[in-house]
This record gives sequence, C-alpha cells and structure tokens, in this order.
Amino acid sequence: MTNENSKSQIAVVTGGASGIGAEICSQLLAIGARVYSLDLLSNSGQAEVENLYPLQCDVTDERALLESFSLISKQGAITKLFINAGIVPPWSKSADFTRQSWESVLNVNVIGAALTLKYGSAAMKKPGGSIVFTASLNAWKGDSNIASYVASKHALLGIVKSTAIEFGSEGIRVNAVAPGPIATQALKKRLLDRAKGDFFAEEEAYKKLSSTTALQRIASVEEVANLALFLASDKASGVTGQMINVDCGVL
Ligand SMILES: NC(=O)c1ccc[n+]([C@@H]2O[C@H](COP(=O)([O-])OP(=O)(O)OC[C@H]3O[C@@H](n4cnc5c(N)ncnc54)[C@H](O)[C@@H]3O)[C@@H](O)[C@H]2O)c1
Repeated sequence: MTNENSKSQIAVVTGGASGIGAEICSQLLAIGARVYSLDLLSNSGQAEVENLYPLQCDVTDERALLESFSLISKQGAITKLFINAGIVPPWSKSADFTRQSWESVLNVNVIGAALTLKYGSAAMKKPGGSIVFTASLNAWKGDSNIASYVASKHALLGIVKSTAIEFGSEGIRVNAVAPGPIATQALKKRLLDRAKGDFFAEEEAYKKLSSTTALQRIASVEEVANLALFLASDKASGVTGQMINVDCGVL
C-alpha cells in the first residue's frame, strides 16, 4: 500500500516552527502535502503559507496532543509523522547537573516523543503510514557535558527499534534520522553560549566541528530533511527500525 499520492497526504511535524522541523515542513509542502506543525511557538511567520497549519502544542502536554491529533484526524488519516521536537540543555559537567535539568530534557526529548507517538500513531493510515524521529549522532555516541541529552537520544533509538516491531504488523514503518551538528539557530546559540559570546570563538568552534567530518563540513538542515522525507516515502518501503546518520561522516 503506498502513501505517495502527495495531494492526499497529511503530514505532522513536531517542532516544525524552526530549524530542522521547519525545513521538513517546507519540503513536505513542496511535494503537495497538507502539513500540520505542532510547536510551542504558535506561529513563527509560517501562518500565511498555503497548506501549512501551525498548531500551538506542547508535546509534553497529553491534553494538548490529544486535542491537536483529534483536530487533524477530522481531515483524514495521517500518512507521515515526524517526531522532531527536542531541546538541548546548557552545557554542564555531569556532577553539576540538577535534577530539574535532567527532568526537563527527558520530559521533552523522551516522554514528549513517546506521547506524540502514542496519540499520533492512533491517527495514522494503516497500512501505509510512516513515522520518522529526529534523533542525533548522540543516539550512538557520547559527548562530555551533555549527558542528559545523550541519554535522551539513546532512548529514542530504543523506542524506534521496539515500536518498529510493534507497528510493523499494522503496516507502519518507524525510522530515525541521526543528525550530526547542523547549523541551525539553536546550534549557533549553543556555540555562542559556550564561547561566552565571543564571535571568533564561535567561528573557531564551527571550524573545529567541520574538521572532524570526512567531508570537512557539517551537514545542512536541507540534508537532514532530505533523509527524513526519503525514510517517510515509499522509496524506503522496505526500511524500518533503522536510524541513519546525516553528519558528513563523523567516522
Ligand atoms: N541542530 C543540531 O545540531 C541537531 C543535531 C542533532 C539532533 N538535533 C535534533 O533535531 C531536532 C530539532 O532541533 P533543531 O536544531 O532544529 O532545534 P530548534 O530549536 O531550531 O527547533 C526545535 C523546535 O522544537 C520546538 N519545541 C521545543 N520544545 C517543545 C515542546 N515541548 N513541544 C513542542 N515543540 C517544542 C521549539 O519551539 C523549536 O521550534 C531536535 O530533536 C534536536 O535534538 C539537532
């Protein structure tokens, strides 16, 4: 069963108001899908775009998710669900992390993703629907000063592998993209924070990140969205339970 008749596609993207999620929305609109962007931000200048429906929704709030997905279901079954919303805590040594910081990261990145899957999957096309998580290279590898984020993304890998088995019998595929560092506003802000506002130190940090990849650059939001849309498409009809890096080769 295919889901490739673009005009009849209903796609949902969490965290669709900025960065990677906004690019996923743009690429979905370009193939003619009706796109619902669920984000804390009700509108980041996207409201005027044809076929794009921004809904204010905190993915940690079950009631908000239930209301959003009931509203979307009235338009038909969801064919593509992108579980992308995520946060990164400020850098801190693990010994200094607060309980509150751990809870807020796990709450959005793990519980929020799991709840989106719960309510979103119930509204999906069966068979033929496809779910794509935005994980991270940190779902495979560690990094210092950011243990809660790394743990949250490792958890997503477990969710992808387990739910791919569960949903497979309903004809729904579950996969993930694992971006390396991507030059979103969010990453720029983090690098600037870590460089303590020093622009040159921020540039230096970019150069350093680029020098660690095989392609000697970092990947773009477009490249992440390309992979996400591929995984959600029928071109990837035999692919499920997988997480694929898009990182320009961090080897
Ligand atoms: N940028 C990178 O370098 C990078 C690398 C690897 C993985 N990622 C992952 O990609 C995803 C998108 O990140 P981004 O870089 O585009 O960041 P971003 O901050 O630009 O976008 C994240 C979006 O999620 C929304 N959001 C945050 N908490 C939410 C909540 N509780 N409910 C609903 N929406 C919420 C934000 O409002 C924002 O619009 C995240 O899961 C992130 O962990 C990013």
